[in-house]
Amino acid sequence: MNTEKIKKAIAGKTPQEVLAYLAQQFEEGLIFSTSFGWEDQVLSDMIFSQDLNIKVFTLDTGRMFTETYYIWSRTLEKYQKPIHAFYPNEEKLQEMISLKGPSSFYESVENRKECCGIRKVEPLKRALKGQKVWITGIRSDQSPNREDMDWVEWDEAHQLIKVHPIFNWTLENVKTYVNENNVPFNPLHDKGFPSIGCQPCTRAVASGEDFRAGRWWWEDASKKECGLHDLSPK
Ligand code: ADX
Ligand code: SF4
Repeated sequence: MNTEKIKKAIAGKTPQEVLAYLAQQFEEGLIFSTSFGWEDQVLSDMIFSQDLNIKVFTLDTGRMFTETYYIWSRTLEKYQKPIHAFYPNEEKLQEMISLKGPSSFYESVENRKECCGIRKVEPLKRALKGQKVWITGIRSDQSPNREDMDWVEWDEAHQLIKVHPIFNWTLENVKTYVNENNVPFNPLHDKGFPSIGCQPCTRAVASGEDFRAGRWWWEDASKKECGLHDLSPK
């Protein structure tokens, strides 16, 4: 099964059908990453309610919002399914904080990338090791460089196929699904947070402001990715 075959096979399918199809095709090696944002909550709902054989995991950076931890607990209560947690390497984290303090990410892009590297990118590598298909909640209209992505891609860095089942959904589609299916969602979404990452690096956006304007707001727009989803050749 390669990216082109999957793309052909899932053309015209709904996200629920895409997930069910993948679960049918791959007996193992399917993994979904959740940050508990409402896009991801939609996918968790689809996976858990269809009881699909897809491992769900999160990268707990240790700096998430209280609201995010709350919605994590509510999700466990509602679906009664495991959500695997991955943590930063203890030694690397201790070393960075001992040398640079707890807020070095505000001081330079280099420091910010170091923190994202330790808290997210390296744990992600561990989470994806040996997996075949990585499912995410990315939508194309979340940022200009996401428009250049495709809903099925080859991820060169992690050597697996990446699938974004709600790639073509609008924010309205997401909200409608959440309301109709009673999906627990992060209360910050109703307070001006369209995109939610770590607490010190995410703020609310004003109406009309860019979707990701609240992420690493002190940096140039061109630098605003944390390395989880660097574009790779298709
Ligand atoms: S990020 O690159 O800016 O951090 P974003 O918040 O837009 O990512 O989320 C895009 C997708 O990345 C989510 O749908 C989810 O699959 C994955 N993701 C982001 N943050 C995490 C996290 N902390 N744990 C697991 N997956 C995550
Ligand atoms: Fe560190 Fe901020 Fe990146 Fe979170 S988003 S890992 S706190 S730099």
